[in-house]
Amino acid sequence: MGKIKVGIAGVRGLSTVAGLNDIEDVEIAAMCDLDEEHLNASADKLNVQKRFRVFEDMLETDIDAVIIATPMQCHVPQAIAALEAGKAVMSEVTAGVTMDELWWLCECVEKYKRPYMYAENYVYTPQVQLVKNMVRQGLLGEPYYAEGMYLHNISSILEYPNGKRSWRSYWQCGKRGNFYPTHSVGPVMQWFPGDHITEISTFSPGVWNDVGMKQDSGTTTMCRTEKGKLLSIRTDCMSPRPHNMDYYLLQGTGGIFQSKSCSEDIDKISLLTLDNPESEMTWKHLDEYNQYLPERYKNAGEDQLKAGHGGGDFFIVKDFIDAVRSNTQPELDVYTGCEWTAVGLLSELSVANNGRPIPMPKFRPDTPNKDKIIKL
Ligand SMILES: NC(=O)c1ccc[n+]([C@@H]2O[C@H](COP(=O)([O-])OP(=O)(O)OC[C@H]3O[C@@H](n4cnc5c(N)ncnc54)[C@H](O)[C@@H]3O)[C@@H](O)[C@H]2O)c1
Repeated sequence: MGKIKVGIAGVRGLSTVAGLNDIEDVEIAAMCDLDEEHLNASADKLNVQKRFRVFEDMLETDIDAVIIATPMQCHVPQAIAALEAGKAVMSEVTAGVTMDELWWLCECVEKYKRPYMYAENYVYTPQVQLVKNMVRQGLLGEPYYAEGMYLHNISSILEYPNGKRSWRSYWQCGKRGNFYPTHSVGPVMQWFPGDHITEISTFSPGVWNDVGMKQDSGTTTMCRTEKGKLLSIRTDCMSPRPHNMDYYLLQGTGGIFQSKSCSEDIDKISLLTLDNPESEMTWKHLDEYNQYLPERYKNAGEDQLKAGHGGGDFFIVKDFIDAVRSNTQPELDVYTGCEWTAVGLLSELSVANNGRPIPMPKFRPDTPNKDKIIKL
């Protein structure tokens, strides 16, 4: 395959530009945004000539792949249109906004056999990758409990600057439950390799703000896995507090990792070893274990680090381009993206029914239609 031509839809897609520019034989060949001013400003800056306000028009060009970074409710319709047109897809979070959409998406990836990558960038942070490697090497023993939190007050972006309600006031805060779970679920699921979420149950303290939205003042979703492990996923986008979008904890039989809970705190780890008996367990800075960073993070060049998140924003793009080049599905494939997204979609039903446990349907290849349902 020669040069890979990529089209970017939505301003958020610009976060991939540094990565794309640093990979050989890749060209940003087209851009799309409904907002002509944004579109022209970004395309001028990047010297991209093919510009489209209508996504489907961009698909008429000879691009090989699209990066979909439009609002959440556009992801599935645009991903399906792109797959039908034979393009590979990298989709921003979340994968879709209804359970039916997720099944349609899986069916289209299976039918058109083009790569689909779920762009969960929090999975790619050095901290998450380092702990993943330590788990792989058995340093935390058998992991059995994890926490992930995404705490980000978004009440100021429920309206556009012109005073009209933004898409976030519908698809995020216009509904109940955890609308944005995957920045927390994705990273912690890295530490339970080969496992899947089989059941969720969501609780909330109710609504304690006056912005007039249905969204709860925070939700906690408990997820049970196939191997009997437990995850606690908290999302709060409505309460007054400083942001903390990447808090995690992992408890294993051999020790614990806990990330910083605020900017004054540190990422820390405590391992049970022969010279660190249980009664004397103390915290060490995660940095002391930097030798467990994956090799590609240790060897990241200056330009790769410049892409952001300690090289993470480069490697996510690199993995997508590798999948496009080989026409294979990446590790963050459609089934993974759908399972993590479904934690949120099912949470809406659970929280409205006093935390009722809701089974997670299986997002796997060729799931029969009879299993593509929400069981109660
Ligand atoms: N991974 C992350 O860390 C992260 C961070 C922020 C946002 N996001 C995701 O990125 C996406 C966009 O979020 P945002 O904050 O940039 O939203 P935004 O509203 O600020 O921007 C959306 C852009 O998409 C354009 N757009 C809207 N509908 C379109 C359509 N049908 N076709 C083409 N362009 C269209 C708009 O004109 C706008 O420029 C969301 O899915 C969000 O969940 C992810």
